[in-house]
Amino acid sequence: MIYKAMRFCGLVSLLFMLFTSQIAPLTVNAFTGTYGINYGRIADNIPSPEKVVQLLRGAKIRNVRIFDFDHSVLQAFSGTGLELVVGLPNGYLKDMSENADHAASWVKDNIQQFYLRLVLPLGYLLGAAKNIHKATKSLHLDHKIQITTSHHFGVFDNSYPPSNCTFRDEMMQYMKPLLEFFSQIGSPFCLNAYPFLTYMSDPKHIDVKYALFEKNAGIVDSQTKLHYDNLLDAQIDAAYAALRAAGFKKMELIITETGWASHGDPNEDVATIENARTYNYNLRKRLALRKGTPMRPKIMLKSLCVCNVQ
Ligand SMILES: *[C@@H]1O[C@H](CO)[C@@H](O)[C@H](O)[C@H]1NC(C)=O
Repeated sequence: MIYKAMRFCGLVSLLFMLFTSQIAPLTVNAFTGTYGINYGRIADNIPSPEKVVQLLRGAKIRNVRIFDFDHSVLQAFSGTGLELVVGLPNGYLKDMSENADHAASWVKDNIQQFYLRLVLPLGYLLGAAKNIHKATKSLHLDHKIQITTSHHFGVFDNSYPPSNCTFRDEMMQYMKPLLEFFSQIGSPFCLNAYPFLTYMSDPKHIDVKYALFEKNAGIVDSQTKLHYDNLLDAQIDAAYAALRAAGFKKMELIITETGWASHGDPNEDVATIENARTYNYNLRKRLALRKGTPMRPKIMLKSLCVCNVQ
């Protein structure tokens, strides 16, 4: 099933996630199942939305992330029981941040009839998130639509060892109010984690096997004495440590994107199709263990995965 889905990479890339029993009852739109897909539509010859719905149902994939608000896509997914994660294009953010009425009518036109988890890109985040939340609340959709933002690992500093990680000083001024708002409305912190990029930043000191979930000695966090056998777990715990240091010890974390480059520059010799496959295969095996991370062993991780990145 996974292999079948992987052949659609580029058209539809894989997204994995672990089902967690710790989902707060209020977030009724929380992900179900163990993995889902990212449905990228920037390619030629992509299958029609109806065809995609058919493929997903055949593969028993319940969660889908889309990157635009194409109504033909929303229509095709409507009533299918599939759950959608939608990114709000940056162009809309300023307007929604400054104008609560526009946010309200946009929510009405685009998402009222769908169960969505809305992921906002960087920009006029807090204002837009607040206005959209207000709009969903007035339509009594706030328990059905979850609003959050996704962040790259670059928002962090001192991520080695994981327990030492913090948000970058210059990020704090805008992360703090955003995190405060998300913790009020019960939204998770979403992380885009690419062990490939971390490996490329220091290939002399990082074992590629550690980055690819292959057998390796791993690392021990000198402060917590916790052992890590793969880089993704270490990155997740680093993010937990940063959230804790910022005062958000209880915030849930979801991996919205992860993956491995299948092609790269000449100096990126680990960017191969084979390694990308190994990463995805081992990631799936890791998720199938239904384990948390060393720092949060009981919190099952939810992760969406882009299978090939470039
Ligand atoms: C934690 O980070 C700080 C700040 O960069 C650094 O000075 C310190 O050595 C780090 N601690 C460990 C155990 O590496």
